[in-house]
Amino acid sequence: MTSDLRQRKKAARIALPTAVLLLIGSAVVVQSSAPAAAAETTLRAAAAKAGLFFGVAASPNRLYPIVGQEFSQLTPENDMKPDRIATSSGGLQNTSGADTLVNHAQSNNMLVRGHTLVWHSQAGALQGASQATLNTFIGNAINRWGSRIAYWDVVNEALEDNNTGRRRNQWPHTMNRDANGDGDFFDAGDTDVIRDSFIRAKQVVQAGGLTTKLCINDYDVDGLTVQGGTPNRKADALYDIVRNYRQYIDCVGFQAHFNDNPNSIITNDLQANIQRFADLGVEVHITELDIDDDLSNNDIGTGQAENYRKVVRACLNVAQCTGITVWGISDSESWRSSERGLLFTGGNGSYQKKAAYHAVLDELNKGRNPTAPPTTPPVTPTVPPTTPPVDPTTPPPPTTPPNPTTGCSATVSLDSWTGGFVATVRVTAGSAPISGWSVQLTLPSGASVTNTWNANRTGTSGTVRFSNVSYNGSVNAGQYTEFGFQGVGTATGLTPVCTAS
Ligand code: G3I
Repeated sequence: MTSDLRQRKKAARIALPTAVLLLIGSAVVVQSSAPAAAAETTLRAAAAKAGLFFGVAASPNRLYPIVGQEFSQLTPENDMKPDRIATSSGGLQNTSGADTLVNHAQSNNMLVRGHTLVWHSQAGALQGASQATLNTFIGNAINRWGSRIAYWDVVNEALEDNNTGRRRNQWPHTMNRDANGDGDFFDAGDTDVIRDSFIRAKQVVQAGGLTTKLCINDYDVDGLTVQGGTPNRKADALYDIVRNYRQYIDCVGFQAHFNDNPNSIITNDLQANIQRFADLGVEVHITELDIDDDLSNNDIGTGQAENYRKVVRACLNVAQCTGITVWGISDSESWRSSERGLLFTGGNGSYQKKAAYHAVLDELNKGRNPTAPPTTPPVTPTVPPTTPPVDPTTPPPPTTPPNPTTGCSATVSLDSWTGGFVATVRVTAGSAPISGWSVQLTLPSGASVTNTWNANRTGTSGTVRFSNVSYNGSVNAGQYTEFGFQGVGTATGLTPVCTAS
């Protein structure tokens, strides 16, 4: 887990009700919950308390006070797109709008999401450019703002419409080549603009020692299914991309432009879909949220405010869902004004809160609820991995036998690719509850851990020890918790040994 994510989680934990010791006379009474904390009155404050950011898409001519008051993250709606800032050779031009937005964000303690580097639309002078030119642009844009940009949308909207699960057939994806004809672009001999763009972006970030995280962003990827229960093939395709390129991709953006298109509705498996991406070890963000309030048959839910609640709750229920961004402030200033999809009415700096605003604020104030069951159980992805993560002849993951009265066991599941892996470790309590745990395992020579989430870690190679963090040490009898780590090299034959305390 990244340190800033850890800090946000820590902040969220501090906000949780805690057992309070009250001294009444000489008796000690344990009160199970603290009095309800005062509700926050802005979106950004309520979100911060819950451990996530709440952002907005903005333009330089609309930087009214509300931007810094209500929101803690800013995405340039149009001012960082290639048609604004790229020259045909991958240089930069006309960056003043983007600079204004970054400066405004910084002076209001807001994170910035850079939007966007590689996109078939609004490509401007880059339209038709080679990968080499795209790489030049990627380097120039990332270096211009450096770590002032917390998240960059490196690749935007790479997947085709209509739930086909295919890549787009427009530039820059026309550069892709499936060398061995196996139907994907993931193999070493293939050409993939997504992979090559992320590799370039990662190089730039690492060379500059930047904290910027690299994201892939798309729409109609929000649920596991689309209308009628059909699998969401676009979401599955995105999942496959993230899994295959996990070593370069830090975060996933679900645009979440919800409307009554069959592929754009809010489904009950939104949370489960967020969770499966989170389980890959990436941060998940809702990046361009707006919800149609002009529905012909109201088939995406029971009204806009309730729909907003559902989306915010789905994010809050997944710890790695670390931010929500609405695509504008008010309906009249939205790219889809007729849908009245945002949280405010009014315009030009004078805004009125809608019912949807109050619903979002209320939901944020309830905070995260990690014990809430998902609305549907997590579903195994329908798209098979192109490189099987585990050899079918490999025996099942080793398990340490649980102590019959206390103790714990641990199993590891691996998602591997050439040169790297993500391990998910499940810690299961025995027949008695445990209040803490540690897991020790030995990595093969050449393998090392680069990133850990939901656990403290000692060591990076050889024998590595993981222990619970403050919020996942207590596990009821027979229940489990999970942590994960990412690494380089090959991690086979891991034998985790679990010790409970
Ligand atoms: O600024 C010019 C103005 O001078 C001119 O008079 C006017 C005439 O049409 O156009 C103005 O530019 C428009 C620009 O928005 C600023 O308002 C463009 O025509 C218009 O095409 C552009 O639309 C943007 C759209 O992306 C373009 O694809 C929207 O504002 C913006 O909200 C939207 O954002 C995208 C995300 O980047 C990616 N995900 C989907 C999302 C919605 O389409």
